[in-house]
Amino acid sequence: MTLASAPGKVILFGEHAVVSGIPALGCSVDLRARVIVEDLPGRTEVETNLPLAGFTLDLLAGQIRSHEALHAARYVSAVLEELGANDLRIKVDSDIPPGAGLGSSAAIVVATLAALSEHLGLGLPRAEIGEMAHRIEKSVQKGLGSPMDTALATFGGYLQVSSRVQELNLSPLALVIGHTGISHDTRAEVEKVQSLRARHPDLVDPIFEAIGLIAESAAYLIKELRLAELGELMNINHGLLEALGVSSRELSELIYAARGAGGALGAKLTGAGGGGCIIALPGPAGATALEIALRQAGGRVFHARTGGEGVRLGA
Ligand code: MEV
Repeated sequence: MTLASAPGKVILFGEHAVVSGIPALGCSVDLRARVIVEDLPGRTEVETNLPLAGFTLDLLAGQIRSHEALHAARYVSAVLEELGANDLRIKVDSDIPPGAGLGSSAAIVVATLAALSEHLGLGLPRAEIGEMAHRIEKSVQKGLGSPMDTALATFGGYLQVSSRVQELNLSPLALVIGHTGISHDTRAEVEKVQSLRARHPDLVDPIFEAIGLIAESAAYLIKELRLAELGELMNINHGLLEALGVSSRELSELIYAARGAGGALGAKLTGAGGGGCIIALPGPAGATALEIALRQAGGRVFHARTGGEGVRLGA
């Protein structure tokens, strides 16, 4: 039996502008996907322990199919196919909600690759796991996907991503994540922003440039733990994403709850927008005040420490 785990991620600054080559800043979070591989002569099975948050009742087969489980199984099958592996039982369990922009599929793919590499004695180096994971995620998602998610699941820490990926050595942060419970559609949101840019290049390009400046300054503020200023940059970045049309009523409600009753130093949406999550930086009132405010506004709450370890053998 072999166990491997890999972390989820958040984009701190730079989503959407990164699609046009502006550097974005992302980091791993300490929500992890865990994958166990066992020998199972004669068959191959994928078993998931994920919550039945969304499910379908299959009356013909007499089975309940969880959307989360199907999501995980699709990615695990793609990895098994890539490695030509069979006669195995793969068990997946994860703290990372799928479809929320927190890198769930990348973490599952990376942890599966690492567990299989160890179990089958393939000795895949970390960099190769990262590259294979990006290729597999892209093929399952039909061409979509920057290397941010798979690189963070593999290496952890903080990464600046543009056409290339650069590791940054920054301090850990305690963030509170608020999930709207609404799945986001990255492709639709990216197309919406790119179409806005095609219609208003003179307006959208300066917004992208401002987002790029924020991502650059933020790295220094995180290193120095200048949290009040960092919170301010989160608020400005959110305003610019709002101008690009990717916020929503549900995201805004969580943002204002975080900044109001939650006492956050700053809050912004993270990822593609349209649904998914916000991130908030706790203020003097602390993470519990933020959690209560976000729950009262209808959000699911996750506490996350940023910049932790990437893929590893063990939980
Ligand atoms: C989605 O998580 C982030 C976007 O910038 C798209 C991408 O970078 O692939 C919106």
